[in-house]
Amino acid sequence: MDGNGRWAAARGLPRAAGHREGVEALRRTVEACRDLNLDHLTVFSFSTENWRRPPAEVAALFDLLRLYVKRDLKRLVQEGVRIRVLGAREGLSDDIVTLINDAETQSKHNTSFNLNIAFNYGGRGEIVEAARGVAQAVAEGKMSPEDVTEDALGRFMWTADLPDPDLVLRTSGELRISNFLLWGAAYSELMFMDVWWPDFSQAHLEQAIDAFRRRDRRYGGA
Ligand code: FPP
Repeated sequence: MDGNGRWAAARGLPRAAGHREGVEALRRTVEACRDLNLDHLTVFSFSTENWRRPPAEVAALFDLLRLYVKRDLKRLVQEGVRIRVLGAREGLSDDIVTLINDAETQSKHNTSFNLNIAFNYGGRGEIVEAARGVAQAVAEGKMSPEDVTEDALGRFMWTADLPDPDLVLRTSGELRISNFLLWGAAYSELMFMDVWWPDFSQAHLEQAIDAFRRRDRRYGGA
């Protein structure tokens, strides 16, 4: 969801205003995905590298997560949406951890749509976390080194329950993956759109999905 800051700067607004508008774009996109019968949407809303931003901006992003969960959770749960928050819990304040746990618990039996929020997430961090989990299991004698396969390591990832993403889409025109879903995105189709996230609409999503359908996915085959 890139481009909130530039969207705000272009209007002479503080960056936090761009993030607030970004939440509106997120609401629209969740609805658009459900309209188009998609099963999963995973959004990158706070990376482990985002801690380097000014404290006021970090605080604004945390407040937006609080507000989003508080305002939308009840409705999403009633509508059958399952919510997962991917990322490290360490470093998050107790109230945020409680909020996340509640959102996941209240929605855990829902199946109509999956909204996955990567928050305090980093792709390398996820792989390190999984490696640590496997190392621990081996040290405890629950696994042998020969058991360490791609599937086994995948089961220790924050994304263990999720299918690999078919499409990874970045807005704002930047051509980088920036530590998002590194493990799962091994064979994802990558797409970069020249639109700031707050301006992202159902039409952009439909355009991306049309382009995705025209891709030839070979997974390394001929
Ligand atoms: C990147 O734009 C966006 C982010 C780092 C945060 C994305 C967050 C939201 C859309 C709102 C929060 C939503 C929840 C659910 C917490 P940027 O700030 O890097 O923009 P720039 O590259 O133009 O400066």
